[in-house]
Amino acid sequence: MFPKLINFFKFAIHTLNSKKNQSLHMESSTEKILITGALGQIGTELTNRLVAIHGKENVVASGLDRFDKNLTSAGYYERMDVTNTQLVRQVIKEYEITTVYHLASLLSGTSEKQPLFAWKLNVEPLINFCEMAREGLIKKIFWPSSIAVFGKGIPKENVGQDVVLNPTTVYGISKLAGEKWCEYYFDKHGVDVRSIRYPGLISWKTPAGGGTTDYAVEIYYEAIEEGKYTSFISENTAMPMLYMDDAINATLKLMEAPKENITVRSSYNLGGMSFTPAELAAEIRKEIPEFKIDYKPDFRQAIADSWPASIDDSVAKKDWGLTYDFDITEMTRDMIKNLKTKLKP
Ligand code: SER
Repeated sequence: MFPKLINFFKFAIHTLNSKKNQSLHMESSTEKILITGALGQIGTELTNRLVAIHGKENVVASGLDRFDKNLTSAGYYERMDVTNTQLVRQVIKEYEITTVYHLASLLSGTSEKQPLFAWKLNVEPLINFCEMAREGLIKKIFWPSSIAVFGKGIPKENVGQDVVLNPTTVYGISKLAGEKWCEYYFDKHGVDVRSIRYPGLISWKTPAGGGTTDYAVEIYYEAIEEGKYTSFISENTAMPMLYMDDAINATLKLMEAPKENITVRSSYNLGGMSFTPAELAAEIRKEIPEFKIDYKPDFRQAIADSWPASIDDSVAKKDWGLTYDFDITEMTRDMIKNLKTKLKP
């Protein structure tokens, strides 16, 4: 199925010609933004926040899927394969893009199933964007790394910014390589590329897909729809997690920080909160008392076991004022309230 998919995307309809004059129509603003993976879990919410700040005329969303007006409020949508170097370059030029939020990526579970494609998608387009910044075509890049860069042989708790990185997953290896490319392009060429090591991200608007931390999203859907959930992560495995509102705020704060404040050019640790499936189930029971959980760990348990349980993010707090608004209780209340409305028959 995989080669077929690639072929499909290679020839995915791209309507650049019809957009020939759009750059002329984009409102003048200091920033013209391109988001890749804009219909994904982070992309949908980040795009809408960027539109609220910069105006829809200055935001171009892009992704592999067909345009869906319910998912994006961006003024423009480019259906494109981000591994198509020439096409991406054309889009950057057409819209006179200054800032790229490059979110397109394969998460940890899916990367284990498609290792070579994970490498291609998670690393090569990032280098392409760094090259374009080196040439002066774009000014600023945001790229997400992950807690997956850590790995075996480091302490589980309160893992610091500068520990030895030893990822054992394809996803972690690709993210570590990406971090090193970011640092390299900054050191050698002054490219302003900024990054966060996201923990597991929890949100109700757009589902995640293929991640090890996704149990913490699925659990809410099943709690509301079925009253029970079978977790693929075992009862007492703690992982760092973050509510999407806090993730978006952190991303925007990092991107708005003065250049001289950014002391980490690989990727910033972000701790969020830390909890186990059992602890999350207990929180859900405060809202849905009859909720039941059982555990059937699968291949993702080994991935989780290689990741930290909690993260020290003091450098991000010091450099650009990272803060959080949601803890596990507030997040659970918000998730259940919003999902109940969304899932209403
Ligand atoms: N949420 C990601 C995953 O589970 C971790 O960055 O793959």
